[in-house]
Amino acid sequence: MADVVLGIETSCDETSAALLVSDGGRPELASLVILSQDIHKIFGGVVPELASRAHLTALPAVVERALVEAGVGWHAVDAVAVTAGPGLVGSLLVGVTYAKALAYAGERALIGVNHLEGHLFAPAVEDAALEPPFVALLASGGHTMLLDVPAWGRYRMLGATRDDAAGEAFDKVATLLGLGYPGGPEIERLAALGDPARFTFPRPMKNEGFEFSFSGLKTAVLHAVRASTDLPRDRADLARGFQDALFDVLVTKLERAVRATGYPTAVLGGGVACSRTLAAVAARRLDGIARIAVASPRLNADNAAMIARAGWFRLGLGERSDWTLDARADLPLPGLEALPQPLHAPHP
Ligand code: KG4
Ligand code: ZN
Repeated sequence: MADVVLGIETSCDETSAALLVSDGGRPELASLVILSQDIHKIFGGVVPELASRAHLTALPAVVERALVEAGVGWHAVDAVAVTAGPGLVGSLLVGVTYAKALAYAGERALIGVNHLEGHLFAPAVEDAALEPPFVALLASGGHTMLLDVPAWGRYRMLGATRDDAAGEAFDKVATLLGLGYPGGPEIERLAALGDPARFTFPRPMKNEGFEFSFSGLKTAVLHAVRASTDLPRDRADLARGFQDALFDVLVTKLERAVRATGYPTAVLGGGVACSRTLAAVAARRLDGIARIAVASPRLNADNAAMIARAGWFRLGLGERSDWTLDARADLPLPGLEALPQPLHAPHP
């Protein structure tokens, strides 16, 4: 069993390293360093070439910093857990190559981790008591999905987005409103000042099943922005109308999944789960039905602590990656299994 795991995450525009230390029991987070690449703000989105170069420059110092903050020497590290996908392939390659070199030279165990499984494990970093079964809503810049998680490592897809991811919709609407990148935090801040009654946007696919679609909502906001004669006056109200519509859909489907499975817990994960507003809306809607488990924002944004935690789980199963570990932009979630039977989706 690995007692000290170094996590490395470079799948998008955060360069991150973390140390998890366990003394035979549950692992504790000993350090977490996250370096956000600000360069992309100039371009209004992540520029892949710039992201991989910035990872290359920053990663050795970020890893060093994580070791120093944890008070752990490299000699004490048992295993290296690194995001192997999904993500930007050039960015992933920097982390994977660095982790392989470290593990090979130091004769340490290596484990490639799926980024989405990392997001699922984020609340478990802080909440040692979190155990399946639970329903998980994963919403990030690249993915939006509802999962039935009967046990760690076993995942049943209830539904995913047919077009845009929830975070992507936030980023695109932020651009329409003339806000910066990433859009989520800016829209959340502005929406808090907005009038909820001024703009009511469509809630695509709200009344059916577990799948999502956000492109129609985005288009509706686009039309409203074009129709506005005074965007500075309307901006906060538009942000509020958009956020309310998107969260209403997310939480309605989460509630439907909780009711259909009968599970006592619902996990929120991924970058969109940084939104305290989403956590509050979900807690209100599921009050008396299920407990909401959500990590603090810095563990929901891309970070290496969640990667180390998911890696720790996989290492505990005896899994190891070998030196052929490669970065894969479209790495599928491990342990995906078919639903035993189609899940009846009750109203709502
Ligand atoms: O998981 P993540 O950090 O990166 C990916 O793996 O994609 O997610 C980033 C996404 C961005 O689209 C960002 O706008 C969104 O998460 N996000 C938010 C909030 N904070 C970040 N969306 C809504 N409200 C927030 N407060
Ligand atoms: Zn992510």
